[in-house]
Amino acid sequence: MRIGIIGTGNMADALGGRWAAAGHRVLFGGRSAERARALADRTGQRAGTVREAAAFGDAALLALPHDAVAGVLAALGAGDGALRGRLLIDCTNAVGPGFRLTTGTGPGAARAIADATGARVVKAFNHLPDPLWWLNPPDFADGPVAVPLCGDDEAALETVRILVRDLGFVPLTVGGLDRAAYLEATTAFLIGLWHSGHDPRTLLPPFESVTA
Ligand SMILES: NC(=O)c1ccc[n+]([C@@H]2O[C@H](COP(=O)([O-])OP(=O)(O)OC[C@H]3O[C@@H](n4cnc5c(N)ncnc54)[C@H](OP(=O)(O)O)[C@@H]3O)[C@@H](O)[C@H]2O)c1
Repeated sequence: MRIGIIGTGNMADALGGRWAAAGHRVLFGGRSAERARALADRTGQRAGTVREAAAFGDAALLALPHDAVAGVLAALGAGDGALRGRLLIDCTNAVGPGFRLTTGTGPGAARAIADATGARVVKAFNHLPDPLWWLNPPDFADGPVAVPLCGDDEAALETVRILVRDLGFVPLTVGGLDRAAYLEATTAFLIGLWHSGHDPRTLLPPFESVTA
């Protein structure tokens, strides 16, 4: 598969690097040509602009701070722009001070990105910190870890499922894009727990006990 990566930071590095190692062709696109070139050279892949990454291959990953997203998408051309109809993976988290969502209680970041671009957006890879995406393989004592996905386009979801499996995780489609705001809020909640030293798993009794 060919994947454009918009951004050259930690998530671009981790996900782009792992997908490149798994045999995919990656184009890193950032506002800093030097940083894009450094990632490309280290992974044996291509470097380019944000626009080139948005248009590259089968899927693009949006790996920018949430507060930069609207401006970058506008520069790519809203609605009829470079991302229209493209598969766009949104891993962003709009988490501000106090681990609160800066998107408030509305439809959420992924929905807004889909509306702004006309892209086939899949929300994914936002719920874990970047060091975990580097693990190869991601082996944990409690077994495989699921990666929740939200999206409205079945073909797009299937493509992202492949990319999840290529990292050694298990894809778990949890609903349409209307559920992405819940995934975004859940992630903000998880980050708050982790940062305050609490294990979110202590909130969860065995599955059988709640489904009996
Ligand atoms: N890191 C994590 O553990 C993690 C986990 C899950 C989700 N996320 C989410 O993933 C997204 C990316 O996180 P990250 O950790 O990769 O961030 P990061 O390391 O800070 O990298 C951000 C990237 O965005 C670029 N950027 C910032 N403002 C820009 C602008 N106005 N125009 C163009 N490019 C701009 C930066 O370019 P420069 O290098 O030129 O500044 C950099 O390449 C965020 O929304 C974050 O919440 C992060």
